[in-house]
Amino acid sequence: MENLKKKILQKKAIISVIGLGYVGLPLAVEFAKKGFLVIGVDTDKEKIKKINSANSYISDVPSARLKPLIKKTLKCYPDYSKLKQADVIIVAVPTPLSKTRSPDISFILKAIRKISKTIKRNQLIILESTTYPGTTRDVVLPLLEESGLKGGEDFLLAFSPERVDPGNKKYKTKNIPKVVGGINGESTQLAGFLYSQIIEKVISVSSPEIAEMTKLWENTFRAVNIGLANEMALICHKMNIDAWEVIAAARTKPFGFLPFYPGPGLGGHCLPVDPLYFSYKAGLKGIEARFIRLADEINSAMPNYVVERIKKILKRAKRALCNSKILILGITYKKNIADIRESPAIEIIKILSRRKARVSYSDPFIEKIKLGKRIFRSHPLSRRFLSQQDCVVIVTDHSLDYNFIVHNSPYILDTRNVLSNIKGVERKKIEKL
Ligand SMILES: NC(=O)c1ccc[n+]([C@@H]2O[C@H](COP(=O)([O-])OP(=O)(O)OC[C@H]3O[C@@H](n4cnc5c(N)ncnc54)[C@H](O)[C@@H]3O)[C@@H](O)[C@H]2O)c1
Repeated sequence: MENLKKKILQKKAIISVIGLGYVGLPLAVEFAKKGFLVIGVDTDKEKIKKINSANSYISDVPSARLKPLIKKTLKCYPDYSKLKQADVIIVAVPTPLSKTRSPDISFILKAIRKISKTIKRNQLIILESTTYPGTTRDVVLPLLEESGLKGGEDFLLAFSPERVDPGNKKYKTKNIPKVVGGINGESTQLAGFLYSQIIEKVISVSSPEIAEMTKLWENTFRAVNIGLANEMALICHKMNIDAWEVIAAARTKPFGFLPFYPGPGLGGHCLPVDPLYFSYKAGLKGIEARFIRLADEINSAMPNYVVERIKKILKRAKRALCNSKILILGITYKKNIADIRESPAIEIIKILSRRKARVSYSDPFIEKIKLGKRIFRSHPLSRRFLSQQDCVVIVTDHSLDYNFIVHNSPYILDTRNVLSNIKGVERKKIEKL
């Protein structure tokens, strides 16, 4: 594999990235910017069309950054026809949950089967999709070896979890440390060497299982702590104690405390999903991951809790949920990004619609959404529109003119504590989660 190392060093290695979404596209761009020839593959033809016309759909990859790379060092295709040319193949396809909320690794299997058909000697294959420990060695490796080539000898194989945080201005692909674990020493070494071309710090671990588990541990840690924050906030509310003020005070302790905040529920591709990949694997070993189950239960119940709180606010105005006008402010799962995957806002809108509330939404990042047969469009925030609502619910803390919103809305439920600076008479309209 010395030859591949040399090629990487000289930027002559051809790198293929399979799956050009939130993870794959920024990665492909980083390698292309460094001068590597990158072959991007995504089965979504529309996405490929957009990328090839330098029209980015990912906020962390501005179109202007894409433009100089397209058709020069970044060549993207809707099929695997050019894969044979690659020296390195990185897989970043989705790993969602199935209908029964168990891991669905079918996207990985499809991609790996394709790779297996064209795999050649001295290739380095890296899996980046989040998955349960054992996937790389027990699932991916045998599929690749169906080619007749032997992993660790004829080709190298590693797992490296992605830690991208969409919308984060400080931490991007380049300065987020990258964990790498290969099926043997050479796989770890070469995968680490590859990433060190574009990433400031690479951490080598002893196996793909450690690397797979690192990602699940990190996200389980967050999901469980958010579950705890949600439960504490619910209880604090009953006790008439401001949970956010408590957290602000607790975080002044210089050691032993990390702040996590309550909210309307977990969202995004990772936090609601990844811990269940771990509990699935634990289940196969006959162990129940109790913290994960409990956190999942608490976090999944938050959208219902939000609706209960809306009901209470309406009751003050002697109104019922049915026929009341409820405006949801922000429907993405996270501040200032255009991603609604697993967003609790969607669940809240569904519950409100089922209960016959007249629900609408406003979100500068999402023009429209389709829920069942119904299409909702983002409503512009005018004085008149806000004043017509029975309750305005801040679900996502986008950067908006909150003074204007508070001034013109009758009642507000703030699930993110974005209105903590509002004082005086206007404060009386606001309820915190
Ligand atoms: N989004 C995040 O913030 C984030 C962070 C860390 C890790 N991850 C993990 O990274 C992986 C990818 O996530 P994402 O957010 O980039 O997903 P995504 O849905 O944004 O992108 C995945 C892309 O893969 C494409 N695809 C699906 N099947 C394919 C196939 N067989 N061949 C080629 N392309 C295919 C899809 O069309 C899509 O464009 C997941 O395992 C996820 O859990 C995501």
